[in-house]
Amino acid sequence: MLMFKEEQVTPNVALLEIKNLHAALEDGTAIVKGVDLTVDTNEKHAIMGPNGSGKSTLAFALMGHPSYEITEGEVLLDDEDIAELGPDERGRRGLFLAFQYPHPIPGVTVTNFLRSAINAKRKAANGGEDDPVAVKEFRTDILAAMERLKVPRELAQRYLNDGFSGGEKKRVEILQMAMLKPRLAVLDETDSGLDIDALRVVAKGVNELAGPEMGALVITHYQRILNYITPDHVHVFVDGRIVASGGAELAQQLEAEGYEAFLPPEEQAA
Ligand SMILES: Nc1ncnc2c1ncn2[C@@H]1O[C@H](COP(=O)(O)OP(=O)(O)O)[C@@H](O)[C@H]1O
Ligand SMILES: [Mg+2]
Repeated sequence: MLMFKEEQVTPNVALLEIKNLHAALEDGTAIVKGVDLTVDTNEKHAIMGPNGSGKSTLAFALMGHPSYEITEGEVLLDDEDIAELGPDERGRRGLFLAFQYPHPIPGVTVTNFLRSAINAKRKAANGGEDDPVAVKEFRTDILAAMERLKVPRELAQRYLNDGFSGGEKKRVEILQMAMLKPRLAVLDETDSGLDIDALRVVAKGVNELAGPEMGALVITHYQRILNYITPDHVHVFVDGRIVASGGAELAQQLEAEGYEAFLPPEEQAA
């Protein structure tokens, strides 16, 4: 009886459903021009596109960055439209964007930053009442995650992003992802200068965490990171739209042939 009831109230909806999404810059310039995309748990999607095609704008619009406006369409997370919610509300519902905190935060150590992030999430889950994680539990969790992701212990005691190398920022980002256990991780690989070690850290994190509890959306210009994360679905993104979708082989095709074939005729070399 109870089982039957539960089945009825848990419709089989996808984790993330983006429908006809349009997003614009603050000055009104349309950048994302009608994106449809469904990402489920257990899935790793890659969005690949040339520079300036609007990939980061799509990521920021998904996260609710104040400089980017959703002008049309829907973003459903677990069947709830989140397009009107603020970034922290979206975060509490399980959306995670790497590079959320690109700036140094003086006086806040990585450990303290992670603890506050976890406590904010717990508070929301507890109907707005504080429910801080126990010191011992937090310590056990963070040490286990650092061990698993090969994050050096000394990094946890440093001030967040203060003088961090690109690789160190990545390590902390992935550590944050592992600790927060998001429903959907969106990784915008803006930094083409990442070394192989940092790429491996990112890939390891995504590969370990994507599963029954989490889906992943990896946004990238270069195919390189996809040597370490094998996507189930690849989408080619040109001029604010998904123009082709396929499996992992599509990423290889892009690596070999570039984006040329997917560009509008006027932008193709004669
Ligand atoms: N905050 C911003 N202010 C002004 N122009 C922006 C801003 N963000 C993005 N753009 C412009 O929007 C277009 C798409 O940029 P972006 O989303 O960063 O593309 P991608 O990540 O695919 O390289 C570019 O022409 C870029 O210059
Ligand atoms: Mg970008």
